[in-house]
Amino acid sequence: MPTDFSDLTHRLPAWVDACRVHTAQGSVATYIPELAHAPRHALGITLHHRSGKSVSAGDSDMRFTLQSISKVFTLLLALMDRGEQAVFEKVGMEPTGDVFNSMLKLELVQPGKPFNPLINAGAIVISSLIRGDTPEHKSQRILGFIRDLAGDDSAAFNEDVYRSEAATANRNRSLAYFLKDNKVLDADVEPTLDVYFRQCAIEVTCAQVARMGLVLASDGVDPATGRELFPKRFARIAKSFMVTCGMYNASGEFAIQVGIPAKSGVAGGILALVPGELGIGIISPALNDKGNSTAGVHLLRQLSEQYDWSMF
Ligand code: DON
Repeated sequence: MPTDFSDLTHRLPAWVDACRVHTAQGSVATYIPELAHAPRHALGITLHHRSGKSVSAGDSDMRFTLQSISKVFTLLLALMDRGEQAVFEKVGMEPTGDVFNSMLKLELVQPGKPFNPLINAGAIVISSLIRGDTPEHKSQRILGFIRDLAGDDSAAFNEDVYRSEAATANRNRSLAYFLKDNKVLDADVEPTLDVYFRQCAIEVTCAQVARMGLVLASDGVDPATGRELFPKRFARIAKSFMVTCGMYNASGEFAIQVGIPAKSGVAGGILALVPGELGIGIISPALNDKGNSTAGVHLLRQLSEQYDWSMF
């Protein structure tokens, strides 16, 4: 049954108020020092319906960096730049069950080839596949793609978050050098990491993320303009990865409890969508032990139960 959007619009503020209490169970990410300043008890959401209607509640105007949510969109761009075969020669299609920055399976299972494009190792390889003459050119292409999907030009790099991650990214550097050593990463390490850090530092609002989700929910077509921003085949690939790997090693639990494609980031953002219907953007910086926004996941679970969103 289609979502009753006017009922949802009416009830959303109360749900956000009720879910805010769950922020107390999480903590704000600190391993990127600049992220530690985020307000711990914030919770905001925007839902964007294919009809053009949208609704927001809570701290939805708060600006936050995409972090790992960007990986969905660099995957789409790399698929358009290089084609499916070239991309999947470099990264796999399977979940790991490990934390997002793990090195474990890189060495143990299939030497060098990251399991999927949504773990850090896979996303770094994907960043290296984006076309462009310089890291700046590649980063601008990623930003341009995000702006097209968001439907406005205000998404921008947060220079403080970018510098903060670049200065402290020992784990990502070690992953990238390992990938280079295994010849999975053909490009140079530092310019590739520069592109990766910048995509993670793109600053957005819930409304922009919701609109990006709506384009994915609409199989790559912007419902407002009718313009195809990416092919349906690539939308299907991206949504499949969101279901199997989008919430990291909590993706199985999320599929059971919520049952829709979603992708989280360490700034506390969640991009989610109800296929064919709507896009969702959430911010709540307090994270659980798996790195997903505690209150954000609770809110999605409530909405999914109420409107019967599960795909399964
Ligand atoms: O590479 C990192 O550690 C961050 N820039 C992004 C990681 C992230 O968002 C994982 N999310 N849950």
